[in-house]
Amino acid sequence: MIMEKLSDAGERTVGQSPVRSSPSGNRPAPPPRTGEPAPDGGLAVAARDFSFWYGKTQALDSITLDVPVRRVSALIGPSGCGKSTFLRSINRMNDLIPDTRHEGEILLDGSAVYSSGRDVVELRKRVGMVFQKSNPFPKSIYENVAYGPRVNRLVSSRGDMDALVEESLRQAALWDEVKDRLDRSALGLSGGQQQRLCIARALAVSPEVILMDEPASALDPIATQKIEELIHELKDRYTILIVTHNMQQAARVSDFTAFFFMGRLIEIGKTEEIFTNPRQEQTEAYITGRFG
Ligand SMILES: Nc1ncnc2c1ncn2[C@@H]1O[C@H](COP(=O)(O)OP(=O)(O)OP(=O)(O)O)[C@@H](O)[C@H]1O
Ligand SMILES: [Mg+2]
Repeated sequence: MIMEKLSDAGERTVGQSPVRSSPSGNRPAPPPRTGEPAPDGGLAVAARDFSFWYGKTQALDSITLDVPVRRVSALIGPSGCGKSTFLRSINRMNDLIPDTRHEGEILLDGSAVYSSGRDVVELRKRVGMVFQKSNPFPKSIYENVAYGPRVNRLVSSRGDMDALVEESLRQAALWDEVKDRLDRSALGLSGGQQQRLCIARALAVSPEVILMDEPASALDPIATQKIEELIHELKDRYTILIVTHNMQQAARVSDFTAFFFMGRLIEIGKTEEIFTNPRQEQTEAYITGRFG
């Protein structure tokens, strides 16, 4: 699909030398773009001058970025540029790491994530996370999905829980593969199935935003394709923020792409524009494989 997209635009292909001439090295750098709001106008997440430190190491430097509601936004950039740190800042998973601090703010649906009155458990229910390495609990498939709704007291009867588990597994495109073995250990599933189970587990508590940190990087091409199709299905209902090192994947799954470099947001825009006509030379160098 990326190749179609790019050849439609008639400009260049990813991973190869740019077809059109390089922008002038002397051109003054324009300010980074912010993602354009979705047609329905809402921003699910907005970072405002957000900086983050691990001890004395600054990992994020004044990130200002908009994440439109019910769209897929991809974060790309070389290793160590702060992508995971940024994702973990949104649902305050970084709070669990000692000796860290931040400046600036992140807003979830307009309200400050780091305000003193914020209920972090509720925040993580609204902002779910899926990691690179699938991490099912050593429990049954059913219990993996039922755990979140149970601790959050989302359903009261066994029948309602059964229905919620089924719906979550269906949404994660896993139901047909596991419906006859819900009581078996989740650890017996394949890597790709385990990752979809982790997505089902995230969906079961009805999040608004799903953060995915390289969700398919440990998977084979077929399992990867399933995850990408799933992301496509889910974006009608959820806001998805995905980190990926795979340029083609970013181009295939996302509506907006943000390029991070050394803790800074270099550029954000519509994915097609970022991949065909980046404004910043560093973005162009990265997407054409000249560094990172
Ligand atoms: N728990 C931690 N303690 C101390 N420093 C950390 C920690 N996690 C990340 N860092 C540092 O913060 C910076 C950003 O790391 P981060 O993991 O956010 O990068 P990334 O873009 O996700 O990289 P990758 O693509 O390799 O996953 C790096 O310099 C990293 O060494
Ligand atoms: Mg990372």
